[in-house]
Amino acid sequence: MAVVALVNQKGGVGKTTVTLGLAGAAAATGIRTLVIDIDPQANATSGLGVWDPPITVDHALAEERPGSLRECVLASGWPGAAGRLPMVVASSPALASREPQLALDPLGAQDRLRVALEGLDFDMVFIDCPPSLGLLTINGLFAADRALVVTEPGAWATDGVAQIIRTVDRISQRRRDPLALAGIAVNRLGRTRDAQYWYQQLCEAYSELVLPPVHMRAAVVEATAQSLPVHMLGTRPGAAEAAAEFDALLRRVVQATRTRPGGPDGV
Ligand SMILES: Nc1ncnc2c1ncn2[C@@H]1O[C@H](COP(=O)(O)OP(=O)(O)O)[C@@H](O)[C@H]1O
Ligand SMILES: [Mg+2]
Repeated sequence: MAVVALVNQKGGVGKTTVTLGLAGAAAATGIRTLVIDIDPQANATSGLGVWDPPITVDHALAEERPGSLRECVLASGWPGAAGRLPMVVASSPALASREPQLALDPLGAQDRLRVALEGLDFDMVFIDCPPSLGLLTINGLFAADRALVVTEPGAWATDGVAQIIRTVDRISQRRRDPLALAGIAVNRLGRTRDAQYWYQQLCEAYSELVLPPVHMRAAVVEATAQSLPVHMLGTRPGAAEAAAEFDALLRRVVQATRTRPGGPDGV
């Protein structure tokens, strides 16, 4: 089982969009996929067509109990054959009150999600993190094998990425096994000179860590708004191109999860 946390302390860069795109791409090829939404905004939950979930990830974060996440797994509301749809651990706005409570645990509550994940059986797990580096995101990073940094090619994106990479390094040092980067996913790449400039800055700073980009497209927004994967938007202009970009990104992420962290080929 490969567990990938999608992170950036900035909101609106596309963590949720890329989570849904990768989950759609993975599930469509028969990869057994789970999306864990740990953002109280619950955008991945609604993007997956789950409304009023009977149970959320908060159940698993409330106590330290191995395997408890199994009780929280729901079917996504996306249409299609069950074997080719991702499963979901939902979030809800109520999760926002969990973070201050986690901070009160005298033994530290960084790895509740990791413990809760024990014994689950999926091929790929994507964790959609909130836009902060608080205890929810830290739980996501402790539970993951790989961190996938999502960024837009905007002003000072390179500085924001540097800050996350420092956090990933610090968490890696506190774990039994290292936490490596799956890479940097550049999302919402536009055709403007400005976007190209900041994209180039990222490529120069991080070279081979920069993964194939996802371009800015109305079809991507539409898919989320309709709670559909972009892979199911049919002949809508740009949908096939966006789906192909998520497929290409998924291939690189899967490749990264197969490289031994800290090994000679590790990133
Ligand atoms: N590739 C894209 N093309 C067009 N719009 C996008 C793209 N990726 C994200 N967006 C839009 O940008 C906004 C923020 O994306 P979101 O995934 O919610 O970011 P985050 O999860 O990092 O806060 C959303 O309205 C989303 O529809
Ligand atoms: Mg989000």
